[in-house]
Amino acid sequence: MKMKIVIVRRALFAGACAAWLATQLSAADSPRQHLSLDANWKFHLGDDWPDALHLENSGTGSGPAAERFSDSYWRVVNLPHDWAVELPFDSAADGSHGFKTLGQKFPTNSVAWYRRAFELPKEDEGKRIWLTFDGVFRDATVWINGWCVRHHEGGYYPFREDITDVVQFSGKNTIAVRVDATKVEGWFYEGAGIYRHVWLDKTAAVAIAPDGISVCPKFVHNVPGQAAEIQVEASVLNTLTNAATAVVDCEIISPEGKALKRFAESGKLPRKSQGTIKLESRLSSPVLWSPESPILYKLVTTVSVAGEIVDQKETLFGIRTVGFDPTNGFLLNGKHYELYGTCNHQDHAGVGAAIPDALQEFRVEKLKEFGCNAIRTSHNPPTPELLDVCDRLGMLVLDESRLMGGDSENMKKWDDQIRRDRNHPSVAIWCIANEQFMVQDTPQAANVARAMQDYAKHLDPLRPVTYAAPEDNVFRGINSVIEVRGWNYHYGPQMDKYHAEHPNQPNVGTEQASVVSTRGIYENDNKRGYVTAYDVLRSGWSTTAEGWWSFFADRPWLSGAFVWTGFDYRGEPTPYWWPCISSHFGILDTCGFPKDISYYYQSWWMTNTVLHLLPHWNWPEKKGQEIHVDAYSNCKQVELFLNGASLGKQAMKPNSKSSWQVKYAPGTLSAKGFDDAGKVIAETKVETTGEATQIQLTPDRGTINADGEDVAVFSVAALDAQGRLVPVAQNRISFSIQGGGKIIGVGNGDPSCHEPDTFVPNVPARNVAIDDWRWQLAKVPHSSDTVPEYANEFDDSSWKALNAKTSGGGPTIQTENTTAIYRAHLTLTEEDLNGSGVQICFSGCDDEGWYFVNNQFIGESHDWQAQPMFDIKKLLHAGDNVIAVGVNNAVGQGGLNPSVNVKIIGNACAPAWSRSLFNGLAQIIVQSTREAGEFKLTAGADGLAPATTVVRTQPGAPRPSVP
Ligand code: GAL
Repeated sequence: MKMKIVIVRRALFAGACAAWLATQLSAADSPRQHLSLDANWKFHLGDDWPDALHLENSGTGSGPAAERFSDSYWRVVNLPHDWAVELPFDSAADGSHGFKTLGQKFPTNSVAWYRRAFELPKEDEGKRIWLTFDGVFRDATVWINGWCVRHHEGGYYPFREDITDVVQFSGKNTIAVRVDATKVEGWFYEGAGIYRHVWLDKTAAVAIAPDGISVCPKFVHNVPGQAAEIQVEASVLNTLTNAATAVVDCEIISPEGKALKRFAESGKLPRKSQGTIKLESRLSSPVLWSPESPILYKLVTTVSVAGEIVDQKETLFGIRTVGFDPTNGFLLNGKHYELYGTCNHQDHAGVGAAIPDALQEFRVEKLKEFGCNAIRTSHNPPTPELLDVCDRLGMLVLDESRLMGGDSENMKKWDDQIRRDRNHPSVAIWCIANEQFMVQDTPQAANVARAMQDYAKHLDPLRPVTYAAPEDNVFRGINSVIEVRGWNYHYGPQMDKYHAEHPNQPNVGTEQASVVSTRGIYENDNKRGYVTAYDVLRSGWSTTAEGWWSFFADRPWLSGAFVWTGFDYRGEPTPYWWPCISSHFGILDTCGFPKDISYYYQSWWMTNTVLHLLPHWNWPEKKGQEIHVDAYSNCKQVELFLNGASLGKQAMKPNSKSSWQVKYAPGTLSAKGFDDAGKVIAETKVETTGEATQIQLTPDRGTINADGEDVAVFSVAALDAQGRLVPVAQNRISFSIQGGGKIIGVGNGDPSCHEPDTFVPNVPARNVAIDDWRWQLAKVPHSSDTVPEYANEFDDSSWKALNAKTSGGGPTIQTENTTAIYRAHLTLTEEDLNGSGVQICFSGCDDEGWYFVNNQFIGESHDWQAQPMFDIKKLLHAGDNVIAVGVNNAVGQGGLNPSVNVKIIGNACAPAWSRSLFNGLAQIIVQSTREAGEFKLTAGADGLAPATTVVRTQPGAPRPSVP
């Protein structure tokens, strides 16, 4: 029962007194435990157990869904994990998703299983146990101890279950997840697998509901003033069978860690209900949050019942206002704030959609380097940790839903998204959808848009709502009801007309540009799939950077815009197709290496002095030919020189660039930038380099945390003898690592590179079918006791033969309450036994079975649907081995299904990592282990001096996690 009740009295005496006792509890003292469940999952690629989805009975999932399934030889993976990035490329695969061998044409690669065991101590009995998946691509079915607890469709929304009823306290529990990535949602790379974090939460029976805290700082007229009103809503869940009075005590902690305010309220929660308790306080002289000054406060919410603290939760928040004005555009803290935005998919070189938190931070920093101050999470809700980084580093977010729909399922997802993300000060705008071409102008779409918008306002009254509309002067359907008119492309006179005709509707450039360029390439190359990095090429619907930005820069009412895209991503290889596998839209490539165009944006989006020349100056085959040279700069004038001789000074038009035609001669192309007074304020040069002679390895940080999660991102560069980057080097680099780090991905930003992004250990395995059985009705002890018929030396030659292929696994015991024994032989070599393991997999035993290998009991089953598996290596020897099964047919007909498989598993071969440079650069991502000290990364290539770099791994407190 979910109830919205309970507004109650202000600070109550008894309850409040209890609450006053509550200050910030240490993690160990808090009744709530929020534990990471990311480490040590077992992973298997392949839909080898399709029957697992036949959900005939509760608690009896088959294959890996079963509690007793043995995953001992599956690969160990840590989350986040994206198996799509591990797959090869194929021209027959879906190009819009990056030509990975995934999807309907590749069924064997499109379903995978994850399993994870965990223990719950006896002391946890009485607590509620919650399992949360932040995001799985895509349809996920989750079993706990064989109980199917959830089927979740779609790839971008979190889902959680209260699994208390099906877990075992003081014992082992097993989570099994079947992930089916056959179907797509977007038209871009989407990954596959549990690509976001997984959490296990333990709470008291009365506790803060999931995403149950809302903290909303408010100012009069939505313009910051002397004091902010802090409105808090706490949803509290009572799972007890009796009513409970909950006291909610809030404490606001300043950015410096000082307690500023305490306030409390209480409310009565009926049995098994959820209620919302509203509180408020005032903060005078608050420090405002902005991308330039991302100051965070903390709210500590403590819940007590009958004087006892039952829950405590910390929520970071920022104090700021956002809004839109039809004339002044986007307003941050009451003033016009130009959105220098980029749209981004969740995809990075090396790791795909499984982006570690530290890499999220790296990406946000890379965007900030060229002046980006806002991200559009196209076209889906983001990973929560991206929002944490945006809050902390200062980056606004346009938070987009995946699908537009007013149906209950979509609205539930919309509700989840808003409740989860609304406390983040970075989140500035909700976006109900992107480009609903077929319906956007219809009255039905207007209805759905209104429903989504109203709902957003109901949960979060102060955030504006927009829609990314791919049309010009059209005021029908969604555009006619949406609060802020979003503009995907279509800039120009029609925009002005629309604005004139609808002067009361604010506007924002939800998506602009879509100019394509390949890093370090200055000529189109259809064959290899590269496009020139000059700001010239665009698709039919879009425009150059200079085109859209100079238009927007003059119109503050447009609020700025989000460029398609900040980073390149896999898929959408516009304007090419195979062999090109990645997009070219990025201002940065898939690794985050800047393309020339990033300096254009830097020039006009940042206040520092910028002067950048393109192209590079290594053109031995073009001696005497004219080369087009551009300068991106915000200086007032730029003068270009070739080998010291001036090629002329040009005035720099605002929001533009300067260009020259230069007859190529090797040497130095240089430029000087001047201010208004004619003073040189910037200088730059590009030089003709020598051959590459050495490798340079540069980590983004020299010290990372030894927590098994942190990453160091290395750029790998080829330098000439004088230490200059060789912009045309394409050497293949190999990597090795020692110490507390492991390589998790490599990339180079080449949109047509088919080299692997990740190297997984190869574990050789082969299956041996045991098809030939002999059987006889016999007395079977219903226990692990052995009988002479199980013994190896027992002579079964007079027993009936049973062959799996000819019998088809049909019943052999015809009468009820009858038992029989089945025997088969397995011949193995020494080599078979030198590998890492041997597993035996039975395909069914109707109704009960007791299993023996070489007369040793290995386990039993009591469900005709179970397909028991056992690790049996230690019971085997080279030569003849005997498998024996005692079976009881309890009802109807039954017997052993004679299709039995033995899997002989070899030893894993450690992969050798390598990657070619693309135009001088590559990237390698190393994740820490939990070993403090250091790791040493070495890069080598034929003909180049190798490089070794040491990164320190400092001991730190890894986040609380399930062992
Ligand atoms: C837009 C779309 C994006 C991307 C882009 C490519 O219309 O919203 O997802 O496909 O085109 O230019």
